[in-house]
Amino acid sequence: MSDARAIRLDNLPKAGFEDRLKLAARTVDGALAELLPRPAKGGPRLNEAMLYAVLGPGKRLRPFLVLESAGLFAAAPPRGPVRVAAALECIHAYSLVHDDLPCMDDDDLRRGRPTVHRAFDEATAVLAGDGLLTMAFEILAAAETDADPAIRCRLIAALAQASGANGMVGGQAMDLAAEGQTLDLEQIKTLQDLKTGALISFGCEAGAILGRANPDEAAALAGYARDLGLAFQIADDILDTVGDAAEVGKATGKDADAGKATFVSILGLDQARIEAQKLASSAVAWLDRFDFRADGLRSVAEFVVERRA
Ligand code: IPE
Ligand code: IPE
Ligand code: MG
Ligand code: MG
Ligand code: MG
Repeated sequence: MSDARAIRLDNLPKAGFEDRLKLAARTVDGALAELLPRPAKGGPRLNEAMLYAVLGPGKRLRPFLVLESAGLFAAAPPRGPVRVAAALECIHAYSLVHDDLPCMDDDDLRRGRPTVHRAFDEATAVLAGDGLLTMAFEILAAAETDADPAIRCRLIAALAQASGANGMVGGQAMDLAAEGQTLDLEQIKTLQDLKTGALISFGCEAGAILGRANPDEAAALAGYARDLGLAFQIADDILDTVGDAAEVGKATGKDADAGKATFVSILGLDQARIEAQKLASSAVAWLDRFDFRADGLRSVAEFVVERRA
């Protein structure tokens, strides 16, 4: 990212963005409702907990990235992007369920409702997370995702990489280890790149894989996603500091209480806001090679830093 690459975000087309995001959410929620196992009458409440977690009222930002990135390319298969978007939301929802557990962030509120371990119980929350995690790979592995098994293998490998010890799970471990520690800016970027950035990056990478993007197109999307992921996490850290819990749908003030290392704890609020704006502008600049079909991705860069939830 450099200032030379930055462009003014307020010149970008906004019309229709919110509708596009809502449509993506509805589409992926429909797919999830079909793909996930139905709650069994009189059986354990696992399936119910999985649906509660994954269909809770979230933004569906990661699915949106899959759909919009794949939409840049004529070669993407018709049903693949929605299925991959659903798989990614399963991983994201699982990460939230586990992140909220008493042994991690110990939160009672998520997406404006009781967290899964509160609405159900702790063991069910652990298992619902496990169920969503594995369901994601089952969705990717099915032939409906893409007729070409080599493409499915690439998607599976990329999602495993983004989710595991070298991705989100590794970032979560660093986040916990950093409680009460002072990190420098590079260390916090590494932590956030893994904790949050990896799954966001997978959203764009998946679009590139499904769309048979050439290496330059894939690299541009990867650059965009990296800047977007950092901007997104800075906004999350800012919302934890100044957001309204009713509006964000989760408790605020938790990072400072837990002594978490965040962009706000290192940079302060004003500088964190400036950094988020710079990253969002830089993300958009990566999209120069794409035409109007990238307008949804351009708009989402502005959305992630201006959001109030
Ligand atoms: C929250 O993600 C967890 C982080 C990675 C910061 P989102 O803000 O995308 O949560 P939902 O999906 O909208 O609830
Ligand atoms: C968690 O980060 C990111 C995940 C991998 C789930 P946070 O702990 O900051 O997310 P929130 O603020 O609880 O949503
Ligand atoms: Mg956390
Ligand atoms: Mg948390
Ligand atoms: Mg947070």
